[in-house]
Amino acid sequence: MRLSERISRISVSKIATVLQKAEKLKVKDARLADFGAGEPDFPTPDHIKIAAIKAIEENFTKYTATGGIRELRHALVEKHGKDFGSNYTVEECLVTVGGKQAIFEAMSSLLNEGDEVILPVPHWVSFLEIIKYEGAKPVLLETRENENFAVHASAIEKLIAPRTKLIIVNSPHNPTGVVVPPGEMEKILALAVRHNLLLITDECYCHFVYDGRKPFSLGSSREREHLLIVDSFSKTYAMTGWRVGFALGSARLLANMLKLQSHSTSNPTSIAQKAALAAIEGPQDPVRAMLAEYHRRRDRLIEGLKSIPGLQCVPPHGAFYAYPNVAYYLKKDGLGDTSVLAERLLEEAHVAVVPGTAFGTHEHIRISYATSLEHINEGLRRMAAFFSKL
Ligand SMILES: Cc1ncc(COP(=O)(O)O)c(C=O)c1O
Repeated sequence: MRLSERISRISVSKIATVLQKAEKLKVKDARLADFGAGEPDFPTPDHIKIAAIKAIEENFTKYTATGGIRELRHALVEKHGKDFGSNYTVEECLVTVGGKQAIFEAMSSLLNEGDEVILPVPHWVSFLEIIKYEGAKPVLLETRENENFAVHASAIEKLIAPRTKLIIVNSPHNPTGVVVPPGEMEKILALAVRHNLLLITDECYCHFVYDGRKPFSLGSSREREHLLIVDSFSKTYAMTGWRVGFALGSARLLANMLKLQSHSTSNPTSIAQKAALAAIEGPQDPVRAMLAEYHRRRDRLIEGLKSIPGLQCVPPHGAFYAYPNVAYYLKKDGLGDTSVLAERLLEEAHVAVVPGTAFGTHEHIRISYATSLEHINEGLRRMAAFFSKL
């Protein structure tokens, strides 16, 4: 049996590979310092879990509307309006099986073979793989580390060509933690409008920003035709396993994304939708508490990384990742690239990180600080010892 040409273009997430290895080791060493997973270590808040239990008890266990129950879509656009000053209607909101499904459906609805997609590097793993799966051409925008990986509208504009269809921006950013300033985001959106393109802004981490920054959404711009906002319950409410995300955008684009959803997953899980409703309608204190804890952890991690000779790290102002440059150590004997370094860190120091090659750069490792301060301290101690021996 021959597999499709389309499926052969992509590979399984490199992050998943690291996580699998780390998982195996965890069985042997419960003290593994796990900086690999891009998911909150906090449990889903109780009131959200209770809403799901109630949904089961009340037999809310059947198919729902494919694009999500109206109550949830209504609550989502209301909350987005309250948080960011947007004014989406229920028809301009689609509930999906995680933010990932929204991204997949949007690209499938938009891209033809050979269309070009502008994607800043480093980039979250799945963006590139989905572009390839669609048969489109990724046009990678190289950012500069000495400019804190800044994404400039002027640099994007230089890459716009006749086949350009889509620009993807993710802020706060996975894997660097960098936050694109609102003014720059608005300039990028203006470019999309001027050149008749779509801008997908992935705002999955928008509530996790530090150092006096305020959560921002481009939805406040009120642009519809050229903007698709993707967001998720996964990170904001520590609900990665529930698989609920959403998209806000033009009713026409969403109607086409819905077609795909209707023939693949159908509705996001009914019970998870009720949980999501409780998440946005209920108290937001758990989100504030997680933010405060991430902030403490970020400060400790960055302070610890700075004390390891040779490591450089762009200051992360959002999400829960740091992306230190390890070039100094790659020159040492037998290392070569960050995959080897990550493997040795795992095997010799029992520290799990993701090699930057997964995100399109060659001198970095991604450290997720969605793990306890205790693990961060232990991981830093082990990393310092590991690097000092190289
Ligand atoms: C930048 C970014 N976008 C989207 C997602 C997808 O999240 P989910 O499908 O769980 O909503 C992730 C998950 O790690 C992410 O880091």
